[in-house]
Amino acid sequence: MYRALYWSDEPAVMLLDQTRLPAESVELSCPDVASLVDAIKRLAVRGAPLLGIAGGYGIALAVARGEDVETAAYDLAHARPTAVNLTKGVVRVFAAYRDSGGDPAATLAAARALHAEEDAAAEALATHGLTLIEPGARVLTHCNTGALATGGAGSAFGVALAAHKAGKLAHLWVGETRPLLQGARLTAWEAAAHGIPHTVLVDGAAASLMSTDQVDLVLVGADRIAEDGTVANKVGTYGLAVVATYLGIPFVVVAPCSTIDLATPQAAAITVEQRDATEVTTFAGQLVTPADSPAWNPAFDLTPAGLITALVTERGVLRHPDRAGIAELVAR
Ligand code: MRU
Repeated sequence: MYRALYWSDEPAVMLLDQTRLPAESVELSCPDVASLVDAIKRLAVRGAPLLGIAGGYGIALAVARGEDVETAAYDLAHARPTAVNLTKGVVRVFAAYRDSGGDPAATLAAARALHAEEDAAAEALATHGLTLIEPGARVLTHCNTGALATGGAGSAFGVALAAHKAGKLAHLWVGETRPLLQGARLTAWEAAAHGIPHTVLVDGAAASLMSTDQVDLVLVGADRIAEDGTVANKVGTYGLAVVATYLGIPFVVVAPCSTIDLATPQAAAITVEQRDATEVTTFAGQLVTPADSPAWNPAFDLTPAGLITALVTERGVLRHPDRAGIAELVAR
C-alpha cells in the first residue's frame, strides 16, 4: 500500500517523506549518510523501530558509498537521542561490517535481516495484541505507530488494524499529537488508507473523551523501555496513562523487544529529546505566540510501569510490567 523506507541499489535509502504527509506522498532519496541524518532529524523518517531500520541501512549506505563508517555510525546514532532502536540498529549493522572485514554485501545483508526481523515482530505484536481486544472496542491511540513508524504494519496501530480486520474494532480515536501532529497527519492517513473508522481529537480533549465512556482501551507505542518498565514515548503519553488509570481504562503499550533497553535502569537514565521551540511557537509557518515568548518542547515523556496495564511484545503479553517481568520476558 505504501512503503515508509526501502533500500535502493543506486545506492540510496529511499523514504516516504513524512514531513509532506498527508498533503503529498513524496519519495525522498538519501544517497549519503548526511542526507539520511538530516531526514532523521527533520522527522522525514521517524518512529522507534523504523529509526532502527534506517540506522542499519545507513551503515550499509556508508559502506557502499565508501564513506568513513565510524563517523557515519556516530552521526546516525546521535541524530536523535530517545529511541533506543536507532542506536541498536546502528551498532548491530556496524558489528556486521566490522566482523565481515568491511564487506558491503555482508553489511547490507545485516541491515536487511534487521528489517525482516522488525517486520516479523510487528506481525507477532498484532497477533498477541489482538487477544486483549474485546469485540466492539473503542480504542484511543497517540502519535503514529503504524507502518510509517515500524517494520510491518505497526505496533499499537498494528493491533488496532488487526482488530479492525477481525471485525472487533468499533472506533479508533486518534490524538492529534502536538506539536508535529503525527496523529492528525500520519495515523489518520494510515487509518483512512485501511478504511478504519476513526476520529481525530486535540490532545487536550483526551481526558474528557475518556471520562465520558467513549474509550475502552488506550494503545500506545514506545521509544525506549527501561529495565524497570518505564516507557519513554511521545509527549502526552504519560498524561493519557494517568487519566486512564484514574478512570480504570486499560492502558496498553505495544512494542517490539528491540525497544527494551536493559542498559537503561530507570527513568532518570533516559535522555528526553528537546526540540526547537519554533515547533511550538509557530503553526503552519505562522508565529502563534508573542515574538519573545519562549517555549518548552520535549518530544517525549516517561510513563512509570505502575500505570501500564500490559506490555505487548512479539514474545507475548506481560501484564503489569515490572523489573522482574521485563527480565523474564527478555530471557524468553
Ligand atoms: O518523534 P517521533 O514521531 O519519532 O515519535 C514516535 C513515537 O513516539 C512513537 O509512539 C514510538 O516511536 C513508537 S513507534 C511504533
